[in-house]
Amino acid sequence: MNDLLKTMSARRSVRTYADRPVAKEDLDQILKAAVLGPTGKGIAPYDFIVITDPDVIAKLVDIRKGGAKMLTTAKAAIAVLGDEDRSDTWIEDDAVCMTMMHLMASSLGLGSCWLQVRLRPSNVEGKSAEDFGRDVLGFPEHNHLEAILAVGPIDEKPEPHDPDDLPKEKFHENQW
Ligand SMILES: Cc1cc2nc3c(=O)[nH]c(=O)nc-3n(C[C@H](O)[C@H](O)[C@H](O)COP(=O)(O)O)c2cc1C
Repeated sequence: MNDLLKTMSARRSVRTYADRPVAKEDLDQILKAAVLGPTGKGIAPYDFIVITDPDVIAKLVDIRKGGAKMLTTAKAAIAVLGDEDRSDTWIEDDAVCMTMMHLMASSLGLGSCWLQVRLRPSNVEGKSAEDFGRDVLGFPEHNHLEAILAVGPIDEKPEPHDPDDLPKEKFHENQW
């Protein structure tokens, strides 16, 4: 199997992490991967906040209604922000970053999971997840918090996807 397809097949969402730190070198590699993807007009309107302080990660558990359980064991959380003043494709650009980081984390043998923030409510009645994140992380109004990648070590890799198990009904040829 092609190496990239193998890496992509092995990527799974992991929501519980082992109680060990994540190496700084691994986080650096994940950030390198984040900015290697395409962006609309090459503008790259994103910013990242790498959170390793356990107290800040603990505060962020309430960023989502019901509590973002994965953050209770995460050893790092990478917030991906997009600047609406710089590009109208910030949502797509941020989603590409999230995917690239998720893949890199997996290839480093780490567990990770996408925590959606945009359009979601927080655990505080009447407060959006984004505004909750702004209170905790202090980013400006024109920067939007698309999502957070929770990261942590794992003892066992989850079952990979089978790339041959294609949802054939989703692939249309030449016309719908
Ligand atoms: C846009 C997007 C938002 C997601 N939001 C969440 C989330 O808030 N919480 C969560 O546990 N997983 C979230 N996920 C992960 C999906 O639940 C997961 O990718 C899906 O169930 C498929 O499983 P897999 O990643 O193991 O292939 C999100 C994924 C994407 C792409």
